[in-house]
Amino acid sequence: MATILLMDALEHRDDWAAALREKLPEHEVRTWPDVGNADEIDHAVVCFPEPGELAKLPNLKAMHSLWAGIDHVTQDNDMPWDVPLVRMVDHSLTQGMLDYVTGHVYRYHLLMPKFEALQKDADWRQEVPPLVEERMVGIMGIGVLGSVIAKQLAGLGFQVRGWARSQKQIDGVECFAGEEGLEAFLSGTDILVLLLPNTPETADIMNDQTLAKLPAGATLINAGRGTLIDEDALIRSLDSGHLTAATLDVFKTEPLPKDHPFWAHSKITVSPHIAAETRISTASESIAKNIRHLEGGGSIEDVEGVVDASAGY
Ligand code: NDP
Ligand code: OXD
Repeated sequence: MATILLMDALEHRDDWAAALREKLPEHEVRTWPDVGNADEIDHAVVCFPEPGELAKLPNLKAMHSLWAGIDHVTQDNDMPWDVPLVRMVDHSLTQGMLDYVTGHVYRYHLLMPKFEALQKDADWRQEVPPLVEERMVGIMGIGVLGSVIAKQLAGLGFQVRGWARSQKQIDGVECFAGEEGLEAFLSGTDILVLLLPNTPETADIMNDQTLAKLPAGATLINAGRGTLIDEDALIRSLDSGHLTAATLDVFKTEPLPKDHPFWAHSKITVSPHIAAETRISTASESIAKNIRHLEGGGSIEDVEGVVDASAGY
């Protein structure tokens, strides 16, 4: 029997504990701070762990993040990097992101912000959107989420290109890689979707220089992390008219402070970090499946979503 510790003071912690107990009846589930004997903890389920608490568990076999992004876990400077960290890979998370990005891509493709603004003045001004095959969507970050979205948008008829650290081959998607591929990727992108993780390499990756590489009239959707964007540069680009609109789900400071200029900016759409929610019903099964696999003698190499500590995602 293994012992699993739910680390966080989560809002729905009792529901999480109940779901994990139901799915792992042969194992014990404890909830922090009722750790009991710390030597007995085999698996930690984490989202916002208290700094230093993971390091107090000497026999951990794995840490399971409730989120796909792991920056909330790794901000703990004492995090035990010698223990594998598994990020959330889950059907509902992927489907949620697919719905969010597809919806917002269509909003921009169909020129909706323009018509919303004209409606305020009862202004009947016709402009016909191009067809999907005349529109290029560029996705920065074609990992678990970005690759599914790229394929879906390509299936809907959009031109799609993607950018990642490593070179990819995805049917119907033009793939670019690394710093050397970034300018060419950006220069042909009409609707830019950010789905990169928060790492030192991606910090402020969209800045004055990179935003200027996008064609005039481009739009941007950030569902990755707030750290990806230099906020002042984004506002400068929108105010100059180079970028026409931005949809932002994630921010450097969350919740977005009430006096932040993004709230009132006429070209910015804000959503409160809801693009893809970790849903207990399916995500608890994803975690349970990985714990069953590891406790059954399976190898960590076969678990999807193990974080590469050197890459930081
Ligand atoms: P993955 O790790 O599967 O994919 C990350 C992608 O980013 C990979 O394609 C990776 O390249 C690429 N990448 C990372 N660093 C760089 C870099 N320096 N240069 C170029 N490409 C880079 O993550 P997911 O797809 O599962 O999730 C992506 C992010 O989405 C999460 O980290 C999280 O921040 C965010 N997210 C937001 C949610 C929301 O509600 N707003 C919900 C869920 C996730 P390569 O393939 O070569 O490794
Ligand atoms: C995640 C998120 O990373 O919700 O899963 O942002």
